[in-house]
Amino acid sequence: METTTTEKLTSQQAIDLENKYGAHNYHPLPVVLSKGEGVYVWDVEGKKYYDFLSAYSAVNQGHSHPKIVKALIDQASTLALTSRAFYNDVLGAYEKYVTEYFGFDKVLPMNSGAEAVETALKLTRKWAYEKKGIADNEAKIIVCENNFHGRTTTIISFSNDPDAKKNFGPFTPGFIKIPYNDINALEEALKDENVAGFMMEPIQGEAGVFVPDEGYLEECAALCKAAGVLFVADEVQTGIARTGKLLAVDHENVKPDILIVGKAISGGVYPVSAVFADDHIMEVIRPGEHGSTFGGNPVAAKVAMAALEVVKDEKLAENAEKLGQLFRSEINKFIETNDLVKLVRGKGLLNAIVINDSEDSSTAWDICMKLRDNGLLAKPTHGNIIRFAPPLVMTEEQLMECVAIITKTISEF
Ligand SMILES: Cc1ncc(COP(=O)(O)O)c(C=O)c1O
Repeated sequence: METTTTEKLTSQQAIDLENKYGAHNYHPLPVVLSKGEGVYVWDVEGKKYYDFLSAYSAVNQGHSHPKIVKALIDQASTLALTSRAFYNDVLGAYEKYVTEYFGFDKVLPMNSGAEAVETALKLTRKWAYEKKGIADNEAKIIVCENNFHGRTTTIISFSNDPDAKKNFGPFTPGFIKIPYNDINALEEALKDENVAGFMMEPIQGEAGVFVPDEGYLEECAALCKAAGVLFVADEVQTGIARTGKLLAVDHENVKPDILIVGKAISGGVYPVSAVFADDHIMEVIRPGEHGSTFGGNPVAAKVAMAALEVVKDEKLAENAEKLGQLFRSEINKFIETNDLVKLVRGKGLLNAIVINDSEDSSTAWDICMKLRDNGLLAKPTHGNIIRFAPPLVMTEEQLMECVAIITKTISEF
């Protein structure tokens, strides 16, 4: 196929190009998007859809939010990148803004979620050796079964998804895996004196939107504190208003020792991630010991400030809380009349339905294909679970229209 970079492609041509020239590390739903605005996206043939994935919760502020896009364009055309070899006139203001926003002394800026997780792991280990007095190379970090924290070699070392791990070894040692939402298991694991930290997702997103029991986060934080161990919250997917509060840990008024955010901190227009901690932890990192060419660049800084302002100005956490309640209550009504959906669960606008079929059936995928035909884009997470995570700028009227599409689609199945 002859193509140039400016030629307008059909959906099939775009799919063929990706298949031929791109590594096959994803299995996308067959829809080719070329435009987004707010809660909507359009394919190359001009068909309009509700986006019910929001780029895995990166587009909480809606597609191409004008205020965030303006910040991107203004800063990119002024000064895009200096590296951290020099100071720039935006980073300090950003650092002041975000540390006050999230309530920590210091921030360490990175780009992707996985990089921020890596940063948090390195910080936890370094703190353990330099502050807690754990012997060289003996530090352990507790993590949860069915976690998803990203794709680097160290992070997949403690994954239990066979696809994520197979033939990528040897793996990084030093991790203890315990069941999620099991406070006794945590208590037991914390008896090991070489434990430096406990890293967890306040809701397990990729695993299928598993919401732990109420009180779990508070108990985790208290146990870690008593054991002199850092409580590390990975809020890359749950953060930035997605679950109905700025952070999912806010539901239980917990302040983690280390907070990891990414995705929607930029409204999805630029890769931005960040690790937060107070001085007594962050001070173990000194010049030359960790970094990133792009981390904290002026565009990232301006974009993140605009994206976080939008979250506050447009009351996105409040909207997610209200619409989330409505969504689950409407889907629960539907479940009473329909056997194909087993349950709906979630918090705010991070929800999932579990399909009443075997884990390896294609039913969830087939439903997502029909939803696509009916104008709504969602994707199965694991097996028979479909995650529903629309942009948080959705209105009640739009949400009800989406509920109608979802229930009608599943009823016809
Ligand atoms: C909880 C969590 N942590 C980390 C990541 C990795 O983020 P990224 O894909 O930006 O590396 C994700 C991505 O889905 C995530 O959900």
